[in-house]
Amino acid sequence: MCSSLWTEKYRPQTLDEIVNQSEIVSRMKKFVKERNIPHLLFVGPAGVGKTTTILALSRDLFGPSYRNFVMELNASDERGINVIREKVKSFAQTAAISPEVPFKILIMDEADSLTSAAQHALRRTMEIYTKTCRFCLIGNYSENIIEPIQSRCSVFRFSPLSEQDLKGRIRSISIKENLQLLDEGLDAIYEASAGDVRKAINLLQAAAAVQGGVIDDVSIYSVLGQLNPTRIREMVKLCLKGDFLEAREVLRSLLIEEGIAAEDILKLLYFEILKSDIAEEWKVKLSDTIGEVDYRLTQGSRPEIQLSALLAKLTLAGEEMHR
Ligand SMILES: Nc1ncnc2c1ncn2[C@@H]1O[C@H](COP(=O)(O)OP(=O)(O)OP(=O)(O)O)[C@@H](O)[C@H]1O
Ligand SMILES: [Mg+2]
Repeated sequence: MCSSLWTEKYRPQTLDEIVNQSEIVSRMKKFVKERNIPHLLFVGPAGVGKTTTILALSRDLFGPSYRNFVMELNASDERGINVIREKVKSFAQTAAISPEVPFKILIMDEADSLTSAAQHALRRTMEIYTKTCRFCLIGNYSENIIEPIQSRCSVFRFSPLSEQDLKGRIRSISIKENLQLLDEGLDAIYEASAGDVRKAINLLQAAAAVQGGVIDDVSIYSVLGQLNPTRIREMVKLCLKGDFLEAREVLRSLLIEEGIAAEDILKLLYFEILKSDIAEEWKVKLSDTIGEVDYRLTQGSRPEIQLSALLAKLTLAGEEMHR
């Protein structure tokens, strides 16, 4: 079991297990109760439960043998709309019909990657087989789906998981896997995944494989191969406290000892400065400096000097704040 993917191992099997998308889930449950569903269009960012929801709905609707009544196609894998049409046709015509539900479900992932001509053809196919087949089209953006398809579907918009829900899910998996997940580790997972549960679970699994049982922010960022934002936050804090020299030491160690690219440091500094509680007017000035530094770096200026100048300005902002 150890080698299996945790995203699959912990994929919710039923609608009840799905986290966060509560309004969508309750409408899905209503469909199950009525034993009827419209054509569906699921849109939203990666890893928030779109595929999981339609599979869970299918299981709740058809029972454990639901795979007999469901076909999954990936629009970007299939070679053209004709291949898709043939597959839909043979699925709609030949696959078994459940005694209790008079239709089958065809899931079309990455439907938004189909050209508009292909989507028009798909729409006709949907109409022909609508009696025996319901379509669940899935994509990231509804803008890429043609209007006639949208109007034939009930559209459901999935959102990234809230901090609380994502952390709760990750915590419960780490308990089942006997990990010791520290708060800093959980914060790092949330920050890096931005509500994408798949990414969050994959990070947890990768960190567990490398680090063994204890997971903190260092293990997460080392798995990511990324700069740890807490180091940058530390630098900003030091400047705002007036400890310019100490902040510069952190900068030197990032640049020289750890070999981190100045551009990466600058990018995180930008976010941290915008998030900080310094006055608006200083944020404007500092953004301007960041823009300049960014340009100079592309021109081959010395990174340490450029970033030090930015830290100096940040220290001035801190001094004014405490005046
Ligand atoms: N709302 C959720 N509740 C619980 N687990 C979730 C949820 N969303 C995603 N997951 C976890 O993340 C994995 C990926 O989810 P899923 O395949 O549903 O994503 P998706 O929205 O279809 O993303 P993509 O657009 O990349 O296909 C699931 O196997 C599950 O483990
Ligand atoms: Mg999916």
